[in-house]
Amino acid sequence: MAKNVTLSYEGKEIEFPLVEGTENEWGIDVKTLRAKTNLITLDPGFKNTGSCKSGITFLDGEKGILRYRGYDIEDLAANADFLEVAYLLIFGELPNAEQLDKFLVDIKEESFIDEDLKKILESFPSAAHPMGVLSSLTSALTAFNPNSVDVDSEEDMYKAIVRIMGKLPVLVAWVFRKKEGLPLKYGDYSLGYVENIARMMFRKPNKEYIANPVIDSALNKLLILHAEHEQNCSTSTVRIVGSSHAGLFASIAAGISALWGPLHGGANQAVVEMLEAIRQDGGDIKRYMEKAKDKSDPFRLMGFGHRVYKNFDPRARIIKKAANEVLTDLGLVDPVLDIAKKLEAEALSDPYFVDRKLYPNVDFYSGIIYRAMGISTETFTVMFALGRLPGWIAQWREMRKNKEPIGRPRQIYVGKNHREFLPLKSR
Ligand code: CMC
Repeated sequence: MAKNVTLSYEGKEIEFPLVEGTENEWGIDVKTLRAKTNLITLDPGFKNTGSCKSGITFLDGEKGILRYRGYDIEDLAANADFLEVAYLLIFGELPNAEQLDKFLVDIKEESFIDEDLKKILESFPSAAHPMGVLSSLTSALTAFNPNSVDVDSEEDMYKAIVRIMGKLPVLVAWVFRKKEGLPLKYGDYSLGYVENIARMMFRKPNKEYIANPVIDSALNKLLILHAEHEQNCSTSTVRIVGSSHAGLFASIAAGISALWGPLHGGANQAVVEMLEAIRQDGGDIKRYMEKAKDKSDPFRLMGFGHRVYKNFDPRARIIKKAANEVLTDLGLVDPVLDIAKKLEAEALSDPYFVDRKLYPNVDFYSGIIYRAMGISTETFTVMFALGRLPGWIAQWREMRKNKEPIGRPRQIYVGKNHREFLPLKSR
């Protein structure tokens, strides 16, 4: 039987239906609220607001569960290939071998960049942040691919998807190479999707490139873990920009900008910078813990806390294990890994963090792995963006296919009441 909630307002009882998800989550459908009452809901940060119904990702923050299209993240990270996961997220089902081959071939077919785009990249100062450069170049792709997507045509939609899946890794590799002072090159398209990304990034002009299976496998895992996370800041940005019927490249470019911030994807850079600062400062963990708890100090323990997880972020567990394995397999010792582990242990037994249910999130250990791969700190978030691409595409596609209305929140106006204009000489 359909369930309702009743709102009592100005002597009237107004009913609103409850909506149930497939995992027994409930929400109040307030679509008719304003029409029936002239009221709106006010929810800064959207802490209680569902912006859509979605069939892509299930996340239970209390239990620490994350599933893509019904599959546990642990299962996918241990067994799947990033491209399979991308297909799963975007199209809803795991591909068979033939579908996966075709997907890869179609992506490769689209993985060239107009030479003029190189000129734009070359014109950025070398100090430019890679996320700003990536967002600009992704936006510029629109100019080189001006045809709009007919979202009612599966073929058109598919073309747009393989185009961005083909071009973004090249841009990511070039942004990285430019920062490293390396020549801009394409990869070897006989390789798999992830293996080719590693080659495009790490190949040196003076050496034969020999793939490192430890790096390929770690990259595959990190990209899977970052691939999708339902209605977070950057994904909501992609959906809201796309809801104005802006194209896929423009929507993804906006998502990249949203991801950049240190409270979101930029936390991976901020974490390693914080760990480095603690190390250089003598490794006094307790002092930094005190700073994090001091409300008059803007310092926060980066890589800790999450809007939705009030338990371990399941991705953080996998990444912590991977960080240990990758460093061991590569024969590296990174002192910041040790600091990270001590900081984690300290926080998990500190009442401030325990009471607020603050646990390590996906970004706490990911930067340590990227650093071990030879990726510079400023480029970490670019790698996050590359991983998140299939999630953004899946959400954009779902939103357009569901014909969602333009995203346009309301507000409660708290400014001045009406006043008369005063000419300059009278002010
Ligand atoms: N260090 C110290 N205190 C914290 C932290 C932290 N990292 N995170 C939250 N708190 C405190 C916060 O001060 C508040 O305390 P009080 O109740 O006394 O005012 C309480 O915990 C709740 O925090 P909030 O800021 O209201 O929570 P939120 O849901 O608005 O913010 C967050 C979530 C992720 C922005 C926040 O935890 C944070 O800033 N963490 C550090 C940045 C970070 O690691 N971001 C990556 C998130 S995961 C990657 C992704 O976005 O995909």
